[in-house]
Amino acid sequence: MTLLAIETSCDETGVAVVRDGKILSNVVSSQTKLHAGYGGVVPELAAREHLRNLIPVAKSALHEAGISIEQLDAVAATQGPGLPNALLVGFKAAQAVAFALNKPFVGINHHEAHLYSPWISGEPPVADFSKFQTNISLIVSGGHTMLVLVESELKHRVLGSTIDDAAGECFDKTGKMMGLAYPAGPEIDKLAEQGNPKAFDFPRPLLNDVSDDFSFSGLKTSVRYFLRDNPALLDDAQKIRDLCASVQAAIVEVLVKKTIRAAKRNAVRCVTASGGVTCNRALRNELSRACERENFKLLLADKVLCTDNAAMIGVLAERKLLRQVPLPLLDEEIKPGWALA
Ligand code: KG4
Ligand code: ZN
Repeated sequence: MTLLAIETSCDETGVAVVRDGKILSNVVSSQTKLHAGYGGVVPELAAREHLRNLIPVAKSALHEAGISIEQLDAVAATQGPGLPNALLVGFKAAQAVAFALNKPFVGINHHEAHLYSPWISGEPPVADFSKFQTNISLIVSGGHTMLVLVESELKHRVLGSTIDDAAGECFDKTGKMMGLAYPAGPEIDKLAEQGNPKAFDFPRPLLNDVSDDFSFSGLKTSVRYFLRDNPALLDDAQKIRDLCASVQAAIVEVLVKKTIRAAKRNAVRCVTASGGVTCNRALRNELSRACERENFKLLLADKVLCTDNAAMIGVLAERKLLRQVPLPLLDEEIKPGWALA
């Protein structure tokens, strides 16, 4: 089966061609630079950029895959959650293509797609579900932080999510306080490499809470007060590195400990992670170490598949089509607030 998948839920325009689990192409045009000047994603600008980029990105995805549009068997797009006007661009375009080709259309939940991106690996990338096992999946990005129990393919239950800021938001906002450009996560990762993670002690919110929920706004506030009381610190390059390492250590410790605890409580032996923050090297290392200690299998999404992309949308859509999950009607609408259950 050959599918065209489109992702436009936030600030990445993504189009992929997937055939029998193989990613034939996965083109992403990121708008990060456009939004950097505003310190965050501007929804209206994002939608306009998607309008500008979608056709060129789709053309290169088809070209790279060596597929003509008539060879497609189905079309998929992110239906939600996301920015309404951004979602509309990809979702309506995908529906129009499906309508014109008279082929099935699949609307996908963006978070559900993240659950399966760690199963895509290799070069060229292939989604391999032959060794699939029940897992705890950590989805961690600029917009979401959640722990999900994935019992079997297409069957999952959300265990907890953030009650305020997402982990990526915490990286971005504390980085902004230090004068780093948006998005600050990758820069903090780089600076932290030569910093002392024990230099400053920041809170680990909800670390010992019985729930699987997260909270990062208290940590952000504590960094704000710390900088208010120690403004000279930002004049010292080494102290900035120490600060980055200390903030990163607090975020990573909470993510890793809560993920491992959820896996133990649910008696699963496999952990997966995806979302932009999964690019963070300290998180990848600490999660690897913890899973090794516990003898858990760990699948981390490839860095290109951590951030938003259409390959993961196409992979999940194909699984749904193969399992004959009921498809939405062609006149269905976007679901900007579509929470994963
Ligand atoms: O998944 P993503 O591209 O978009 C959504 O938010 O949905 O994730 C972007 C987030 C940003 O907050 C960014 O700062 C963070 O992922 N991020 C990182 C790293 N790379 C990206 N955070 C920490 N360390 C990184 N290396
Ligand atoms: Zn995402």
